[in-house]
Amino acid sequence: MHVTLRQLQVFDCVASQQSFTRAAEALHLSQPGVSMQVKQLESAVEMALFEQIGKRIDLTDAGRVMQRLSRAVTEQLRETEQAIDELKGVEGGRLRVSVATTVNYFASRLLSAYCAKHPKVQVSLDVTNRESVIRKLTENSTDIVLMGQPPAGLNVEAQPFMENPLVVIAGPQHPLAGKQRIPLAKLSQETFLIREPGSGTRLAMERFFEEQGTKPAASIEMSSNEAIKQSVEAGLGLGIVSEHTIQLEKDAGHLVVLDVRHFPIRRQWYVVHHRAKRLSAAARAFKGFVLAQVGQRNALSGAGPDA
Ligand code: PGA
Repeated sequence: MHVTLRQLQVFDCVASQQSFTRAAEALHLSQPGVSMQVKQLESAVEMALFEQIGKRIDLTDAGRVMQRLSRAVTEQLRETEQAIDELKGVEGGRLRVSVATTVNYFASRLLSAYCAKHPKVQVSLDVTNRESVIRKLTENSTDIVLMGQPPAGLNVEAQPFMENPLVVIAGPQHPLAGKQRIPLAKLSQETFLIREPGSGTRLAMERFFEEQGTKPAASIEMSSNEAIKQSVEAGLGLGIVSEHTIQLEKDAGHLVVLDVRHFPIRRQWYVVHHRAKRLSAAARAFKGFVLAQVGQRNALSGAGPDA
Protein backbone atom coordinates (compact mmCIF):
# COMPACT_ATOMS: atom_id res chain seq x y z
CA MET A 1 0.00 0.00 0.00
CA HIS A 2 1.68 3.20 -1.18
CA VAL A 3 0.29 5.93 1.02
CA THR A 4 2.00 9.25 1.57
CA LEU A 5 1.80 11.51 4.61
CA ARG A 6 0.50 14.29 2.43
CA GLN A 7 -2.39 12.09 1.18
CA LEU A 8 -3.30 11.20 4.76
CA GLN A 9 -3.16 14.83 5.82
CA VAL A 10 -5.43 15.96 2.95
CA PHE A 11 -7.81 13.03 3.50
CA ASP A 12 -8.07 13.81 7.21
CA CYS A 13 -8.88 17.42 6.51
CA VAL A 14 -11.64 16.53 4.02
CA ALA A 15 -13.07 14.06 6.54
CA SER A 16 -13.16 16.56 9.36
CA GLN A 17 -14.43 19.46 7.20
CA GLN A 18 -16.86 17.13 5.35
CA SER A 19 -16.13 19.22 2.27
CA PHE A 20 -13.49 19.28 -0.49
CA THR A 21 -13.91 23.03 -0.86
CA ARG A 22 -13.38 23.84 2.81
CA ALA A 23 -10.46 21.40 3.01
CA ALA A 24 -8.86 23.12 0.01
CA GLU A 25 -9.20 26.48 1.77
CA ALA A 26 -7.84 25.19 5.03
CA LEU A 27 -4.84 23.59 3.32
CA HIS A 28 -4.26 26.46 0.88
CA LEU A 29 -4.63 24.08 -2.05
CA SER A 30 -6.81 24.12 -5.13
CA GLN A 31 -9.92 21.95 -5.00
CA PRO A 32 -8.70 19.75 -7.89
CA GLY A 33 -5.45 19.35 -5.95
CA VAL A 34 -7.37 18.08 -2.92
CA SER A 35 -9.50 15.75 -5.07
CA MET A 36 -6.38 14.35 -6.72
CA GLN A 37 -4.72 13.53 -3.38
CA VAL A 38 -7.89 11.76 -2.18
CA LYS A 39 -8.20 9.85 -5.49
CA GLN A 40 -4.59 8.68 -5.24
CA LEU A 41 -5.25 7.46 -1.72
CA GLU A 42 -8.39 5.65 -2.86
CA SER A 43 -6.54 3.93 -5.66
CA ALA A 44 -3.79 2.92 -3.22
CA VAL A 45 -6.35 1.09 -1.03
CA GLU A 46 -8.55 0.20 -4.00
CA MET A 47 -11.69 1.36 -2.23
CA ALA A 48 -13.79 4.52 -2.08
CA LEU A 49 -13.19 6.52 1.10
CA PHE A 50 -16.05 9.02 0.78
CA GLU A 51 -19.61 8.81 -0.46
CA GLN A 52 -21.53 11.81 -1.56
CA ILE A 53 -25.30 12.04 -1.08
CA GLY A 54 -26.50 15.37 -2.45
CA LYS A 55 -23.97 17.96 -1.25
CA ARG A 56 -23.08 16.00 1.84
CA ILE A 57 -19.85 14.02 2.05
CA ASP A 58 -19.58 11.05 4.41
CA LEU A 59 -16.90 8.52 5.13
CA THR A 60 -17.38 4.99 3.85
CA ASP A 61 -16.45 2.04 6.11
CA ALA A 62 -13.03 1.98 4.43
CA GLY A 63 -12.86 5.74 5.01
CA ARG A 64 -13.43 5.25 8.75
CA VAL A 65 -10.61 2.72 8.89
CA MET A 66 -8.39 5.14 7.02
CA GLN A 67 -9.35 7.91 9.42
CA ARG A 68 -8.18 5.81 12.36
CA LEU A 69 -4.87 5.36 10.60
CA SER A 70 -4.51 9.05 9.74
CA ARG A 71 -5.26 10.06 13.35
CA ALA A 72 -2.78 7.56 14.74
CA VAL A 73 -0.15 8.75 12.27
CA THR A 74 -0.86 12.41 13.08
CA GLU A 75 -0.54 11.67 16.77
CA GLN A 76 2.72 9.78 16.24
CA LEU A 77 4.06 12.63 14.16
CA ARG A 78 3.21 15.13 16.85
CA GLU A 79 4.96 13.03 19.49
CA THR A 80 8.01 12.61 17.26
CA GLU A 81 8.08 16.32 16.57
CA GLN A 82 8.01 17.01 20.29
CA ALA A 83 10.80 14.55 20.98
CA ILE A 84 12.93 16.12 18.27
CA ASP A 85 12.15 19.60 19.54
CA GLU A 86 13.24 18.44 22.94
CA LEU A 87 16.51 17.21 21.46
CA LYS A 88 17.03 20.42 19.55
CA GLY A 89 15.68 22.64 22.26
CA VAL A 90 17.48 24.29 25.10
CA GLU A 91 15.69 22.23 27.72
CA GLY A 92 16.79 18.86 26.38
CA GLY A 93 20.26 19.94 25.39
CA ARG A 94 23.87 19.53 26.37
CA LEU A 95 26.43 22.29 26.64
CA ARG A 96 30.20 21.96 26.77
CA VAL A 97 31.92 25.17 27.81
CA SER A 98 35.67 25.64 27.99
CA VAL A 99 37.07 28.72 29.66
CA ALA A 100 40.54 30.11 30.15
CA THR A 101 41.36 29.94 33.89
CA THR A 102 41.30 33.72 34.24
CA VAL A 103 37.82 33.93 32.75
CA ASN A 104 36.55 31.31 35.18
CA TYR A 105 36.22 33.85 37.98
CA PHE A 106 33.51 35.48 35.98
CA ALA A 107 32.29 32.50 33.92
CA SER A 108 31.14 30.46 36.93
CA ARG A 109 28.72 33.24 37.89
CA LEU A 110 27.45 33.39 34.31
CA LEU A 111 27.00 29.62 34.17
CA SER A 112 25.16 29.53 37.45
CA ALA A 113 22.69 32.16 36.18
CA TYR A 114 22.31 30.25 32.90
CA CYS A 115 21.68 26.95 34.72
CA ALA A 116 19.06 28.59 36.95
CA LYS A 117 17.28 29.67 33.76
CA HIS A 118 17.72 26.34 31.96
CA PRO A 119 17.89 23.74 34.74
CA LYS A 120 17.56 20.75 32.39
CA VAL A 121 20.60 21.50 30.25
CA GLN A 122 23.49 19.15 31.01
CA VAL A 123 26.45 21.44 31.38
CA SER A 124 30.10 20.51 31.48
CA LEU A 125 32.70 23.15 32.26
CA ASP A 126 36.35 22.75 31.47
CA VAL A 127 38.78 25.25 32.95
CA THR A 128 42.18 25.39 31.32
CA ASN A 129 44.71 27.87 29.94
CA ARG A 130 44.61 29.69 26.64
CA GLU A 131 46.73 27.15 24.77
CA SER A 132 44.49 24.18 25.68
CA VAL A 133 41.38 26.19 24.96
CA ILE A 134 42.70 26.85 21.44
CA ARG A 135 43.46 23.14 21.03
CA LYS A 136 39.92 22.26 22.05
CA LEU A 137 38.56 24.66 19.45
CA THR A 138 40.64 23.15 16.67
CA GLU A 139 39.81 19.57 17.76
CA ASN A 140 36.10 20.45 17.90
CA SER A 141 35.89 18.99 21.40
CA THR A 142 33.94 21.86 22.91
CA ASP A 143 30.90 23.96 22.03
CA ILE A 144 31.64 27.42 23.37
CA VAL A 145 34.86 28.94 24.60
CA LEU A 146 35.34 32.04 26.76
CA MET A 147 38.86 33.36 26.39
CA GLY A 148 41.13 36.31 25.65
CA GLN A 149 41.76 37.27 22.04
CA PRO A 150 41.75 34.24 19.75
CA PRO A 151 44.78 34.12 17.44
CA ALA A 152 44.31 35.27 13.85
CA GLY A 153 44.20 32.37 11.44
CA LEU A 154 41.95 30.27 13.66
CA ASN A 155 38.68 29.68 11.83
CA VAL A 156 36.43 30.93 14.61
CA GLU A 157 33.63 33.31 15.26
CA ALA A 158 34.60 35.55 18.16
CA GLN A 159 32.64 38.34 19.80
CA PRO A 160 34.02 40.48 22.59
CA PHE A 161 31.81 40.50 25.66
CA MET A 162 33.78 42.10 28.45
CA GLU A 163 36.85 44.14 29.25
CA ASN A 164 39.68 42.30 30.97
CA PRO A 165 42.15 44.80 32.43
CA LEU A 166 45.46 43.34 33.61
CA VAL A 167 46.84 45.08 36.68
CA VAL A 168 49.98 44.94 38.80
CA ILE A 169 49.29 43.56 42.27
CA ALA A 170 51.33 43.71 45.47
CA GLY A 171 50.96 42.80 49.13
CA PRO A 172 49.67 45.70 51.25
CA GLN A 173 53.10 46.03 52.94
CA HIS A 174 55.01 46.39 49.67
CA PRO A 175 57.06 49.65 49.49
CA LEU A 176 55.32 50.65 46.23
CA ALA A 177 51.82 50.17 47.71
CA GLY A 178 49.96 53.49 47.82
CA LYS A 179 52.52 55.29 45.60
CA GLN A 180 51.09 57.24 42.66
CA ARG A 181 52.06 57.17 38.99
CA ILE A 182 54.86 54.65 39.54
CA PRO A 183 57.21 54.76 36.52
CA LEU A 184 57.48 51.52 34.59
CA ALA A 185 61.25 51.53 35.05
CA LYS A 186 60.70 50.85 38.78
CA LEU A 187 59.21 47.46 37.90
CA SER A 188 62.45 46.35 36.29
CA GLN A 189 63.91 46.15 39.79
CA GLU A 190 61.18 43.80 41.03
CA THR A 191 60.63 40.07 41.05
CA PHE A 192 57.47 39.04 39.22
CA LEU A 193 55.36 35.97 39.76
CA ILE A 194 54.29 34.99 36.28
CA ARG A 195 51.89 32.48 34.74
CA GLU A 196 52.99 29.33 32.89
CA PRO A 197 53.75 29.35 29.13
CA GLY A 198 50.46 28.89 27.25
CA SER A 199 48.64 31.38 29.46
CA GLY A 200 46.97 34.31 27.73
CA THR A 201 47.81 36.58 30.67
CA ARG A 202 51.47 35.65 30.36
CA LEU A 203 51.43 36.26 26.61
CA ALA A 204 49.88 39.70 27.07
CA MET A 205 52.39 40.56 29.79
CA GLU A 206 55.38 39.49 27.67
CA ARG A 207 54.13 41.50 24.71
CA PHE A 208 53.58 44.51 26.92
CA PHE A 209 57.12 44.42 28.36
CA GLU A 210 58.56 43.92 24.89
CA GLU A 211 56.65 46.89 23.49
CA GLN A 212 57.79 49.03 26.40
CA GLY A 213 61.39 47.82 26.05
CA THR A 214 61.66 46.68 29.65
CA LYS A 215 61.41 43.51 31.71
CA PRO A 216 61.28 42.41 35.37
CA ALA A 217 64.54 41.78 37.23
CA ALA A 218 63.51 38.19 37.96
CA SER A 219 60.50 36.00 37.56
CA ILE A 220 59.06 32.94 39.28
CA GLU A 221 56.67 30.81 37.25
CA MET A 222 53.36 29.59 38.70
CA SER A 223 50.61 27.68 36.97
CA SER A 224 47.54 29.40 38.43
CA ASN A 225 46.15 32.79 39.31
CA GLU A 226 45.45 31.53 42.84
CA ALA A 227 49.10 30.55 43.41
CA ILE A 228 50.24 33.94 42.15
CA LYS A 229 47.81 35.82 44.38
CA GLN A 230 48.81 33.85 47.49
CA SER A 231 52.51 34.32 46.82
CA VAL A 232 52.09 38.04 46.19
CA GLU A 233 50.13 38.26 49.42
CA ALA A 234 52.98 36.45 51.18
CA GLY A 235 55.45 39.06 49.87
CA LEU A 236 57.28 36.90 47.34
CA GLY A 237 57.05 39.51 44.59
CA LEU A 238 54.63 41.37 42.34
CA GLY A 239 52.12 39.86 39.95
CA ILE A 240 50.22 40.83 36.82
CA VAL A 241 46.72 39.41 36.83
CA SER A 242 43.26 40.14 35.53
CA GLU A 243 41.47 42.61 37.77
CA HIS A 244 38.49 40.21 37.77
CA THR A 245 40.49 37.64 39.72
CA ILE A 246 41.26 39.76 42.78
CA GLN A 247 37.96 41.25 43.89
CA LEU A 248 37.79 39.32 47.19
CA GLU A 249 41.43 39.90 48.17
CA LYS A 250 41.19 43.57 47.29
CA ASP A 251 38.04 44.03 49.37
CA ALA A 252 39.63 42.20 52.29
CA GLY A 253 42.77 44.36 52.04
CA HIS A 254 45.03 41.35 51.36
CA LEU A 255 46.17 42.66 47.98
CA VAL A 256 46.53 46.10 46.45
CA VAL A 257 46.59 47.26 42.84
CA LEU A 258 49.67 49.38 42.13
CA ASP A 259 49.23 52.63 40.27
CA VAL A 260 51.82 51.96 37.59
CA ARG A 261 52.08 54.13 34.47
CA HIS A 262 50.84 52.48 31.25
CA PHE A 263 48.68 50.12 33.29
CA PRO A 264 46.20 48.49 33.12
CA ILE A 265 46.97 46.42 30.04
CA ARG A 266 43.65 46.57 28.24
CA ARG A 267 42.31 43.29 26.94
CA GLN A 268 38.91 41.81 26.10
CA TRP A 269 37.25 38.52 26.75
CA TYR A 270 35.61 36.84 23.81
CA VAL A 271 32.85 34.30 23.38
CA VAL A 272 34.19 31.99 20.68
CA HIS A 273 33.20 28.93 18.66
CA HIS A 274 34.50 27.24 15.56
CA ARG A 275 32.98 28.82 12.47
CA ALA A 276 31.92 25.45 11.09
CA LYS A 277 30.38 24.33 14.39
CA ARG A 278 26.67 23.60 14.39
CA LEU A 279 25.70 24.98 17.75
CA SER A 280 23.00 23.12 19.64
CA ALA A 281 20.06 25.13 20.92
CA ALA A 282 21.60 24.99 24.40
CA ALA A 283 24.90 26.35 23.09
CA ARG A 284 23.18 29.06 21.05
CA ALA A 285 21.20 30.06 24.11
CA PHE A 286 24.38 30.22 26.19
CA LYS A 287 26.15 32.40 23.66
CA GLY A 288 23.16 34.75 23.53
CA PHE A 289 22.99 34.71 27.32
CA VAL A 290 26.65 35.72 27.68
CA LEU A 291 26.31 38.55 25.18
CA ALA A 292 23.04 39.77 26.64
CA GLN A 293 24.17 39.61 30.27
CA VAL A 294 27.32 41.57 29.88
CA GLY A 295 27.29 43.11 26.42
CA GLN A 296 25.57 46.33 27.35
CA ARG A 297 27.47 46.90 30.57
CA ASN A 298 30.77 47.39 28.85
CA ALA A 299 31.98 49.97 26.45
CA LEU A 300 33.88 47.63 24.20
CA SER A 301 36.82 48.96 22.28
CA GLY A 302 36.33 46.65 19.27
CA ALA A 303 39.86 45.27 19.40
CA GLY A 304 40.64 42.82 16.62
CA PRO A 305 42.20 39.36 16.91
CA ASP A 306 45.85 38.87 17.87
CA ALA A 307 48.37 39.01 15.07
P1 PGA B 1 44.80 32.47 30.85
O1 PGA B 1 43.54 33.21 30.31
O2 PGA B 1 45.83 33.48 31.26
O3 PGA B 1 44.22 31.74 32.03
O4 PGA B 1 45.28 31.58 29.72
C1 PGA B 1 43.19 34.32 29.87
C2 PGA B 1 43.27 34.69 28.42
O5 PGA B 1 43.14 33.89 27.47
O6 PGA B 1 43.46 35.87 28.30
